[in-house]
Amino acid sequence: MGDKEPWTRKYQPRKPEDIVGQDNPVRQVLGFASDYRSQKKKSAIIYGPVGCGKTVSVYAAADQLGLEVIEVNASDFRNQEQINSVVGAASKQMSLFSKGKIILIDEVDGLSGTKDRGAVPALVKLMQESSFPIICTAVDPFDKKLSALRKKAVMVEFSMPDYKDIYSVLKIIADHEGIKYDENDMKSIARRAGGDIRAAVNDLQILTSGKRELLKEDLESMSQREQTENILNAVMKVLKTTDPNIAIQSFNNVQEDFDKVMLWMDENIPKEYEKPADLARAYDYLSKADVMSRRIRRWQHWRFIVYINAYLSAGVAVSKDEKYSKFVKYGPTSRLLKIWMANRKYQKRKAIAEKIAEKTHTSAYRVLQDTLPYMQAMFQKDIDYGTKLADELELEKAEVEWLCK
Ligand SMILES: Nc1ncnc2c1ncn2[C@@H]1O[C@H](COP(=O)(O)OP(=O)(O)OP(=O)(O)O)[C@@H](O)[C@H]1O
Ligand SMILES: [Mg+2]
Repeated sequence: MGDKEPWTRKYQPRKPEDIVGQDNPVRQVLGFASDYRSQKKKSAIIYGPVGCGKTVSVYAAADQLGLEVIEVNASDFRNQEQINSVVGAASKQMSLFSKGKIILIDEVDGLSGTKDRGAVPALVKLMQESSFPIICTAVDPFDKKLSALRKKAVMVEFSMPDYKDIYSVLKIIADHEGIKYDENDMKSIARRAGGDIRAAVNDLQILTSGKRELLKEDLESMSQREQTENILNAVMKVLKTTDPNIAIQSFNNVQEDFDKVMLWMDENIPKEYEKPADLARAYDYLSKADVMSRRIRRWQHWRFIVYINAYLSAGVAVSKDEKYSKFVKYGPTSRLLKIWMANRKYQKRKAIAEKIAEKTHTSAYRVLQDTLPYMQAMFQKDIDYGTKLADELELEKAEVEWLCK
């Protein structure tokens, strides 16, 4: 069975109930699409992290309701004329076979990058006049430029899938494909995906292509390859491009945590950017990333990582009016980095301790004193056992990484 078809397509959830871990938002999408006429707001914005089922949920809802989907991608629009002609036409025509339809404007956050100031208002106007429900998707719809859009739309939030949800998706696929696997290895794919189901499914397909087995050594060599795409390249990519779509991918394969990336950006932005306005914008995004990072530390809202990434990559990239054509030698911060990392390390340690304390019914202080040093040694010596332990304690990817350091 030489199947070249991407498993993300082959196993794309077709029915609303096949979409894992998003019961609530999927119900909201269904509710909106089936009954939008009686609603005050005639459009919806579905938002949430990359690869969590936003786009497929629109198709699944349409399928259930017997509607046709007309899909347009927002980043294809460069100006309001294009929006008017494409979306305008779709929103007025009766659909083929006179089924009802949903107009899907995918990745509407791409619109905030367009220079045309009329683009968003044009879309808002179409939303109000459309005879069909318009559903937009976005990873980050909270850009200032999109505020008019947000006011007119029902906001539906998709959550960051946890590794157990991802694992359950992988398991269904593996069983269906007749793949042999060790449960822990599969869980490790799920955990490493950082909430991105699409990425996890792709990893599984790549790792098992040509065989019917998931091998531990393949898993290990994959993670090493990923680490080689180093942070320096990523920083350069962001600083050299003005295209947010390129920038946003830059840190995908970087293993360092975002706090470290932030320091790298802080160090290198002024080496590249010269105009004061460019610098001001770039540092504004950096400060926003910092705010998000603090929220994660305080409240453990790990899904904010998506925003940190967006600010540090696309945000910094679009902060310049035009590219600088010069050769720059980028580098890491030295002293500050060390002090700061030491502080951060201590905070992560504390967060993990609190989690373990809750699970083991003891105090965080005791965990810090007794359990944690032992656990660290355990993770470093026997990663298999460590993985089992991590599952039991429901530790997140970043936390496990810390324990392995
Ligand atoms: N909740 C889910 N349940 C099952 N499979 C999922 C889920 N989310 C994503 N997938 C898998 O990932 C693929 C991509 O999903 P989808 O295109 O809906 O992601 P998205 O949230 O729109 O991502 P993006 O922000 O990149 O547009 C799906 O085809 C499916 O294989
Ligand atoms: Mg999508």
